[in-house]
Amino acid sequence: MQALQLFEKLEPEFALIDLNPKVAEFACEVIKGLRLSQKRISPKFFYDQKGSELFEKICETEEYYVTRLETALLKKHAAEICRHLDGMTLIELGSGASEKIRILLRQIRELVAYVPVDISKSFLLESAARLQKDFQELSIIPVCADFTLPVDLPALPQFQGQKAAFFPGSTIGNFDPQDATLLLKRIGQMVGVGGHLLIGVDLVKPLGVLEAAYNDSHGVTRDFNLNLLARMNTELDADFDLQGFAHRAFFSEEFNRIEMHLVSLKDQSVTVGESSFEFRKEETIHTECSYKYTRDRFLALARSAGFELKDFWTDPDLYFGEFLLEFRPQASAGLKRSGSESR
Ligand code: AVJ
Repeated sequence: MQALQLFEKLEPEFALIDLNPKVAEFACEVIKGLRLSQKRISPKFFYDQKGSELFEKICETEEYYVTRLETALLKKHAAEICRHLDGMTLIELGSGASEKIRILLRQIRELVAYVPVDISKSFLLESAARLQKDFQELSIIPVCADFTLPVDLPALPQFQGQKAAFFPGSTIGNFDPQDATLLLKRIGQMVGVGGHLLIGVDLVKPLGVLEAAYNDSHGVTRDFNLNLLARMNTELDADFDLQGFAHRAFFSEEFNRIEMHLVSLKDQSVTVGESSFEFRKEETIHTECSYKYTRDRFLALARSAGFELKDFWTDPDLYFGEFLLEFRPQASAGLKRSGSESR
């Protein structure tokens, strides 16, 4: 019943499932985040149409190695990877431009459906339409949703069989370890016991390489960060002075993460709708964390969420890791039990 209401036909063979990430939530979250002593806004709000486009441009910068390395890994090991995904329904979280999936789609024998999930509706629809042109036989079911919240897939026949999730680009790095575990558990529930997760994870590497990737020389990352302010100005009736804030990104050795901030260049007060906020000079809004893992640290996290390692691919420098995992929650629950008994 609910599924039917959400199922909005656009073209005969093309339908969008709209789980409606709301503007009201954007407003609430921003106001809550700006009241904290360390002001904070979730990186998921980067991705309006403009932000999604800017992110695609980041991927083309010389310094941002993440996309290039993962693309190369997927190409090199496509045949092997596809063997694990054949005949399934493939759900991609944060599908963006749906570019990486093309590498797999060229090799895969059969998919029941490809389900791109993204928070930016216009960008999702454009990308799905472009993909459909190039893969006419493929059944595409785009889902507009905020996957940081539980995603309620409707009871379509395509969701009844074997499922695999694709979570590329190290988007998992945006979540602190506790939230990352929770999200992986939810993905596990979504694909079910025996279901697969193909996940790309950025690995620890020399500081200079990491910091350059988030401070590209063309200022695309800066524009991406500042676009959040522009977005609040238009969508939330805010009055941020874009000249009054600067982009800052650095690696925190303590937390193994890149942090991105917007730094206030002066004492200033800003209004967002009816609320107003004071900024001291040098005070920041923390806009993103991008955690970096070692292979083993990520595996420990995945295991704590009930996943087992099936396969792993990396480049010669160990800069980026692609993990193929299988959801086997009983096995890890069993481990936990015996662990606590032995205390
Ligand atoms: C899409 C979250 C993986 O953290 O590297 C790129 C986003 N931010 N440059 C990342 C991002 C600044 C990206 N993720």
